Amino acid sequence: MRLDKLLVELKYGSRKDIKQIVKGKQVTVNDVIVRDSSVHVDPLKDVISVNGEVIHYQPFFYFMLNKPSGYLSATKDGLHKIVLELLSVEDQKRDVFPCGRLDLDTEGLMILSNDGQFAHQLLHPKKEIYKTYYVEVDGQLTEQDVAIFLMGMEILDGQNEPYMTKTAYLEILSSGAQSTANVSICEGKFHQIKRMFQACDKRVTYLKRVSMGSLKLDADLALGAYREISEEERALLFENDEDLVRKVGEDH
Ligand code: URA
Repeated sequence: MRLDKLLVELKYGSRKDIKQIVKGKQVTVNDVIVRDSSVHVDPLKDVISVNGEVIHYQPFFYFMLNKPSGYLSATKDGLHKIVLELLSVEDQKRDVFPCGRLDLDTEGLMILSNDGQFAHQLLHPKKEIYKTYYVEVDGQLTEQDVAIFLMGMEILDGQNEPYMTKTAYLEILSSGAQSTANVSICEGKFHQIKRMFQACDKRVTYLKRVSMGSLKLDADLALGAYREISEEERALLFENDEDLVRKVGEDH
């Protein structure tokens, strides 16, 4: 990329400012003083310094967002607000996109990144990484529902074709005319959780994703807030939570 574009991105000033800095012989690339601010550099390979200070270039960003209801998991939409609007102006320029979808009215953990390869791996169905949702439903949840979620059930997928769900874990938290539960699934068909409860004659009234793999939604993140995640946290996304199977699976 062009040196001036890179230094503007890194907040060294405007393109005009960068021209002046370069003119003042304050910029080196691999220890050679640069004379032309439009020169092309590879920020991942070249050692670039400004005023003797080596610059740090971060190409990829990974954010955890606590998605509120009313925001679409998309990069543009003419009708609804989109999750990218919740990012600062600076972070909106980083070309991040939602890694996976949550319904308009679903809240909770959403990962945003500009790393396409990472997103591809994260969403790959073969990985069978479980995502856990806290759910409130109209109707009484029973042990029979737990068994149905475990065994799999037929729902309609995004194309309204019949689809057999994979092993899902339903942990009932409270049961009555309205019930609450944690439910974990390792796939993401259109409206999957809502359709699974519908298949069991329950209606989802509230849905919030609380974890992906072993990464939990940060309890300190208010609705609509987001933060960068560390490399360690990123790795947790690719590991299933060992407690999950123990909590529900062993009893059945
Ligand atoms: N399942 C749903 O029904 N909705 C979501 O947003 C996520 C999973």
